[in-house]
Amino acid sequence: MKQPLTARSSTRLSGRVRVPGDKSISHRALILGALATGTTRITGLLEAEDVAATANALSALGAEVERSNGKVTVRGQGIGGLRAPSSPLDFGNSGTATRLMLGVIAGHDMQVELTGDASLRRRPMGRVLAPLAAMGLQTGAEADRATLPLVVRGTSDLLPIVYGLPVPSAQVKSAVLLAGLHAPGRTTVIEPLATRDHTERMLGFFGAELVGEERGEGARAVTVCGDAELHGASIAVPGDPSSAAFLIAAALIAPGSDIVVEGVLLNPTRSGFIETLLEMGANIETLDRRDEVGEPVGDLRVRSSALKAVRVTHERAPSMIDEYPILACLAAFAEGETAMEGLAELKVKESDRLAATEAGLAACGVAVRVAGDDLFVDGKGAVEGGARVETWMDHRVAMAFLTLGLGARAPVTVDDVTMIGTSFPGFVPVMTRLGANFASC
Ligand code: S3P
Repeated sequence: MKQPLTARSSTRLSGRVRVPGDKSISHRALILGALATGTTRITGLLEAEDVAATANALSALGAEVERSNGKVTVRGQGIGGLRAPSSPLDFGNSGTATRLMLGVIAGHDMQVELTGDASLRRRPMGRVLAPLAAMGLQTGAEADRATLPLVVRGTSDLLPIVYGLPVPSAQVKSAVLLAGLHAPGRTTVIEPLATRDHTERMLGFFGAELVGEERGEGARAVTVCGDAELHGASIAVPGDPSSAAFLIAAALIAPGSDIVVEGVLLNPTRSGFIETLLEMGANIETLDRRDEVGEPVGDLRVRSSALKAVRVTHERAPSMIDEYPILACLAAFAEGETAMEGLAELKVKESDRLAATEAGLAACGVAVRVAGDDLFVDGKGAVEGGARVETWMDHRVAMAFLTLGLGARAPVTVDDVTMIGTSFPGFVPVMTRLGANFASC
């Protein structure tokens, strides 16, 4: 059942908080743990529905995943060591879980049925099936129109490939690299713009052989050596910058705020949002920058700031792809027109985020327009609010508009907060602890 929530004007957010573990890194830690030999111990794993979907799928495929005292232990089965599940794998709302696990399934001689919720069943799977089919996965679907539910058949005789990504997608890159672990020889993925590199970093950490190469103008090639052997590792998952984004935004727009978000992942392939905010004049300081298990991490001190409009060009999109709804909401509080360019990928997220963001902002009295794949928000330094916003089964749309409501003149209600559990189950209590004014209606 849908659960609406209202956000009211709030001031003086304060305190130190941690955000839950990074979602992308959590999926990958579980998957590589299952493909390794020996035991992988994970601390800080995100406990949310999306990551549970990956854990459940891996258990159904024969890996042992156990949780106790906030630590997760995975007893891996080695590359190619998983077994066919006895029933269909349900990935809920998670595109990352589905696409990465397709890469894993491809390298096993087994038939698997995959399904998901209404939002996931609308999302394109052809982008990952096309390269995996070239490696030997049987899909029985026309790649350009493939959606869940799907039945696929993997093989223990995968072929290595060289694959140029048609869209900058870390999920597709990761699926091909995971499949490549199971193929003899070298599998190479060439990406037009660098996308999040957690799979590569973590593969190195688990002992895989990997070569990265800059190809100019932002392009990169990554090669993984196949028939690999991975060894269980200890992983500490840093705080998710995509979840931190909402707390940061709330502190920027609620007058008199001063907060610290601790232990946030600062990997440059994920930090486009912070870079953009600094260009807008945001008062954000990085404290205690450190390295945790191969990933840069720091504490972020954020104080309320007067923001100015900015132009965000398409090259930055992969490093902040999940942050556009909240950036667009912030842009409404800035002075001047913010342009966000090259957002085609937003149309195939948990919802059509371009349309959902445009509609939500318009309902809140913001001058907003979409032209092709670009989004323009005309900021007036303040937002009227006083609207009910549709979230379209999209956790980030829900969190973005609840955050906007904290700075708007009149309360903003989102139609459903249940999907927030897919990535940031503690969002409402954490924000409330900082001083955010939320009320059920
Ligand atoms: C993710 C990659 C991105 C992002 C998603 C998580 C990942 O998707 O939007 O939330 O963990 O690899 P794309 O690969 O489709 O851009």
